[in-house]
Amino acid sequence: MNILVQKQPGIWMLRWGQPEEHVPSRQHYAKPPRNEAIGRLPAPPLPFEFGKIRFTPGPRGCRLELPMAAEEDIYGLGLQLKSVCHTGKKRTLRVNSDPVADTGDSHAPAPLYFSTAGYGVMVDTARYAAFYCGGQRRVGKTPSGPEAEGSIALDEEELYSSRTTDDTMMIVDIPVAQGVDVYVFGGPSMLEAVRRYVLFCGGGCLPPEWGLGVWYRTCGTHNQGEVEGLADELRREGIPCDVLGLEPGWQSRAYSCSFRWSPERFPDHQRMVESLADKGYRVNLWEHVFVHPSSPLYSQLLSRSGDFEVWKGLVPDLSTAEARKCFADYHRDSFTSKGVSSFKLDECDNSDFINSPWSFPECSEFPSGLDGEQMHSLLGMLYQDTIGDACRQAGVRTYGSVRSSHLFSPPQPFVLYSDLYEHGDFIRGVVNSGFSGMLWTPELRHAASAEDYVRRLQAMVLSPQMLLNIWSMPHPPWCQLDKKLNRAGEFLPAVEQERLKALTRDILRLRMSLIPYLYNAFAEYHIDGIPPFRALVMDYPNQEELRRIDNGWLAGRDLLAVPFTAGEAERTMPLPPGVWYDFHTGQAHSGDIHLKPSLETLPILVKENTIIPVAEATERVRDGMHYNLTLRCYGPKPRPARLFADDGHSFAFEAGRGFHGEVGADGVLPPELTTRYRVACVQRH
Ligand code: GAL
Repeated sequence: MNILVQKQPGIWMLRWGQPEEHVPSRQHYAKPPRNEAIGRLPAPPLPFEFGKIRFTPGPRGCRLELPMAAEEDIYGLGLQLKSVCHTGKKRTLRVNSDPVADTGDSHAPAPLYFSTAGYGVMVDTARYAAFYCGGQRRVGKTPSGPEAEGSIALDEEELYSSRTTDDTMMIVDIPVAQGVDVYVFGGPSMLEAVRRYVLFCGGGCLPPEWGLGVWYRTCGTHNQGEVEGLADELRREGIPCDVLGLEPGWQSRAYSCSFRWSPERFPDHQRMVESLADKGYRVNLWEHVFVHPSSPLYSQLLSRSGDFEVWKGLVPDLSTAEARKCFADYHRDSFTSKGVSSFKLDECDNSDFINSPWSFPECSEFPSGLDGEQMHSLLGMLYQDTIGDACRQAGVRTYGSVRSSHLFSPPQPFVLYSDLYEHGDFIRGVVNSGFSGMLWTPELRHAASAEDYVRRLQAMVLSPQMLLNIWSMPHPPWCQLDKKLNRAGEFLPAVEQERLKALTRDILRLRMSLIPYLYNAFAEYHIDGIPPFRALVMDYPNQEELRRIDNGWLAGRDLLAVPFTAGEAERTMPLPPGVWYDFHTGQAHSGDIHLKPSLETLPILVKENTIIPVAEATERVRDGMHYNLTLRCYGPKPRPARLFADDGHSFAFEAGRGFHGEVGADGVLPPELTTRYRVACVQRH
């Protein structure tokens, strides 16, 4: 090791050799750490002896070996959809939008892991590094002695299940680089190590309140009249909605993008954006980064792009200040200063497994000196920060969607999503993403049955974004859940449509009623670094039985969401220590819980002695509106609930104009909270 620096209390940087020039921490999007908040965390001991880390440069790049004890379990590595616990596995962190197996491929891989021993490790690289998460042993570690007879297995599972548990290590194999910086985040607990990482990155994002409302993405071919018709229909039907997302058809050309409104489909787009705002809708625009020759951006970006086209468009080098400015200024002047509130940043990942190859090759060259591999790792983050700037410059506090991300993502107000559609994977994504300070939505697109539809909607109630992504169907999903039939205009019987509509309304209203609770959870993410959605193991690392739970998560401080998937009638699962109450009925449980929810019910459990503020559901969030709260008290001695009050939509909270306060079972609000909240009722369970 040639450098060891303590960056902040409990955060150390270790350097070996000469790191590459283009690494995540040196990108413009790496924000200053929140030092004050880091200083408030308990100072941790050194998580392990740094002198024991072994660094080996070589012709293929470099290699790190980090100590790992037998009882440690490893989590994180970005948005992993296929498994939660990585112990004993090899993970190669390639950016890829459609992983075919549990290998580490991901929309948003991040060279960052956390251990149940209460520390985290970030490897500052944009390379496709491979992590061997325990299980390997150096030659000579097995003592010589008399040969013991091994047992003979006749079953593959048994054959390959043996895991080396002692004298193991974490190996990180980094291509190309001849040196690397490693950041170690101390705990002492796992949650505190994650918080240190989030705060080191600048704290978590605080979405505008409207971003926590309901999102509906309209069909890709919809025109202005159809979008306006849908907006009216949702209000008429009492379906809550805050954001309407327009898909590729808003542009004169997409794949690659012109970044111009289509004159045929949206002849009077400015009037449409304004009239949607009058009806209480925010507008989100779909795009990707690839710039078509017909775009006004093309000539400015030609010399500032990579040397390969994607879908006949340029790949702008957003790591250069010039390309970033050009892209951000254009978005500010054309969209965000004209009433557009947010964007969906599609296809900034990569794909190896679909029929037509898309995205640029890893061997591409970019003007900044980045190669294609590095650009794939960084593009999602570069893109988010550029669009975030365009919004900020127009005074728009945004919340958007993105298909790729990496290290330093916590402050970015963007939620990851995917074309993959296995519901179990989508649920696992919520469990996993919190480790890397990422947000993920298990969005709804279409459904195989009413049960599938309802379960998919329910799984979003306590997630970062409630998103009905109906981009491939011209009619609302409650008319017809099957995409082909929906496109063909073949609708479900009227009675079934009404039933689905009523179920939709109820689930979306449940989401709306939890906005104050979720908003507070995000405020704690921003201020204290606590991920709003967390795997159970993050809060309870010593409970062996919780370490592999991949279908339930903690939401905010006190709720435990247990979404079901279609075909799953019942489940027995271990609860974290203490008494947990059924959110809906108030029934107390501890130890193992057996759940058998009706179709209408999303199982939610509440930690004992807490107060959950539940708002009267509205059809949308109005800027600065008052929430009428019912305080639901669970347990004999409920602790006060926390609430956050700012205007909910501007950047004023960054200048300290946001207030964190508490309300107890007496229902008396501190004056600063009365600007946004009223207590209508206190209920005891
Ligand atoms: C996909 C994206 C979908 C939709 C579609 C439009 O890549 O994941 O949500 O936007 O593109 O073409």
